[in-house]
Amino acid sequence: MKFCSAEHVSDQELLDVLNAAFSDYLIPMRHTDRSLAQMFRQRSFCRSSTIVAKAEGRLVSFWFIGRRDTQAFLVASGTRPEWRRRGLNEQIAQRVISGLKGQGASVLRLEVFRDNQAAVALYEKIGFVVKRKLDLYEIPPGTMEPLPGVDTASWSDVSEMLQAHRDWQPSWLYENESLSAIQDDLDCHCIRSQGQIVGSAAVIRSSNTLAQIAVRPSARRRGMARRLIAHAASKAPKTAMRIINVDASDAAFKTLLTACGARENKGQFEMALPLG
Ligand SMILES: CC(C)(COP(=O)(O)OP(=O)(O)OC[C@H]1O[C@@H](n2cnc3c(N)ncnc32)[C@H](O)[C@@H]1OP(=O)(O)O)[C@@H](O)C(=O)NCCC(=O)NCCS
Repeated sequence: MKFCSAEHVSDQELLDVLNAAFSDYLIPMRHTDRSLAQMFRQRSFCRSSTIVAKAEGRLVSFWFIGRRDTQAFLVASGTRPEWRRRGLNEQIAQRVISGLKGQGASVLRLEVFRDNQAAVALYEKIGFVVKRKLDLYEIPPGTMEPLPGVDTASWSDVSEMLQAHRDWQPSWLYENESLSAIQDDLDCHCIRSQGQIVGSAAVIRSSNTLAQIAVRPSARRRGMARRLIAHAASKAPKTAMRIINVDASDAAFKTLLTACGARENKGQFEMALPLG
């Protein structure tokens, strides 16, 4: 068994081992060259912090890592089904953690489905702790009628407004830095009043995912969020709109989504391991 960083590993090898490890996942998942490239861009993938295990001429286990300043993120982890329960993923984790400590990283964060018992057990064994619960929703196609008064905007029109007026920090995947990296795949919508943007939403077009939404506090309780969601959902009337990684402690947002006809799916934990 050989462990090494991903610096001299091709994207094709990374794609192969990712798809093999996720072939029996809780939610069916198969990446293509294109979706892998987007995943890496959005999550700030870092080859030198990523560790893989190689045996019999191919990759068998991995921890893909993203880096931003002193923060690190577990982009994906997995082991081919026939190589599981041999301690491989845990050994990779320990190598990743000691590498990140050596590079001065302060924290390693991750997201995991609450039902993924194998992965949750692994992360807890390593010392990760749950920071918050993240809920996932879906608005079935055709649930919402378009509502008037919503304009198209660019990411640069709405990014600062979203950052200033959202109530909680988005998860790594939906932070402003993540969305800036994939802005060619964003549809942004806004509501203006007296020349000022008072509400806005950013949607990832390729997956029809509502990534961020915010309404200025002075303009709340006037149906703006509902209008933005209805407008955004009506842009792809045949596809369900996904709303991923909603902070579960935000009861008002849950009420809004329920009023929009959203159904709740399996939720996640956001976990973190301090490295300092
Ligand atoms: C989760 C996964 C990466 C574990 O890989 P692995 O190489 O089999 O893990 P290891 O052998 O290193 O296991 C280390 C520890 O993890 C935990 N663990 C791993 N698999 C487990 C299982 N099926 N049930 C319960 N605990 C499990 C145990 O604590 C284990 O330590 P132990 O053997 O001393 O009990 C693997 O099951 C996988 O690829 N799953 C599909 C992809 C996935 O879910 N990735 C995570 C997404 S967030």
